[in-house]
Amino acid sequence: MGLPAPTPRSTCVVTGASSGIGAQVARLLAQRGHGVTLVARREDRIRELAHELAQAHGVRAEAVACDVGDPDERRRLAREIEELGLAVEVLVNNAGFGSAGRFQSLDPEREAEIVRVNVEAVVALCGAHVPAMVARGRGAILNVASTAAYQPLPRQATYAASKAFVLSFTEALHGDLHGTGVTATALCPGPVRTEFFDVADMEGHFDAVPEFVWLTPLETARAGVEGLDRARRVVVPGAANKVGALGGRLTPRSLLLPLLRRGYPVGR
Ligand SMILES: NC(=O)c1ccc[n+]([C@@H]2O[C@H](COP(=O)([O-])OP(=O)(O)OC[C@H]3O[C@@H](n4cnc5c(N)ncnc54)[C@H](OP(=O)(O)O)[C@@H]3O)[C@@H](O)[C@H]2O)c1
Repeated sequence: MGLPAPTPRSTCVVTGASSGIGAQVARLLAQRGHGVTLVARREDRIRELAHELAQAHGVRAEAVACDVGDPDERRRLAREIEELGLAVEVLVNNAGFGSAGRFQSLDPEREAEIVRVNVEAVVALCGAHVPAMVARGRGAILNVASTAAYQPLPRQATYAASKAFVLSFTEALHGDLHGTGVTATALCPGPVRTEFFDVADMEGHFDAVPEFVWLTPLETARAGVEGLDRARRVVVPGAANKVGALGGRLTPRSLLLPLLRRGYPVGR
């Protein structure tokens, strides 16, 4: 089973819905008739998107401002969803950010925050919603990882490790959920033009990456939602990214890491 059919009391929780890939995932789910619960810190943006989706698609849509890296805020999010009487049948863990530079030159607090948002929140939100999905025998999880998950990346050490966690966790969860009616899918995009590069202080670092490697947020979100609907374990959108991911996984570290140290454009 892939995406459960929408019901009046079911919702799709989409984290990081205020921008980029998450906003497009929310749009595609609403287009398919799903009610959506939009989560991010910038409340004005998710309120505006909730209004747009309700108007355009006649679906229930609400905005819940939440810093998903904060355990208290995650508990408040769970309470608000419960008070609304909603059953979370689709969970999209998309909120995330990165940094660029040698680890020793980066702010250690911000590096730890990457782990809280990209890793801890994914595990905690799956923990909060997967058991009820299994009890109902229906549900779907989409965890957004990255092609960065396929190899360690010097000058993006914490970010790549966080995405390797998301990929490994999601593939194992896919196995744990076998036969329950609930599915877990990891989406591993390559470069996508979003606010990600501003937030990570990486503007211009990927300018030499050829145009055909880039996907739009909508193309990326579409690949994710279709993968979710087909109950795929992993989705790597785009041919170039599939080749890159395979190379990252198979190339011996003794060869790959010196190459990346010299040639990877991020954080130079
Ligand atoms: N763009 C790429 O090239 C690329 C490639 C591979 C993977 N990804 C992954 O794709 C996902 C979406 O990124 P994007 O490219 O769409 O970047 P983006 O435009 O910067 O969007 C990131 C989203 O995450 C939210 N977010 C960040 N920290 C949060 C927190 N503590 N609590 C709640 N929400 C938080 C942001 O909302 P607020 O700031 O409003 O909270 C925003 O909605 C991320 O997990 C990213 O790692 C991106």
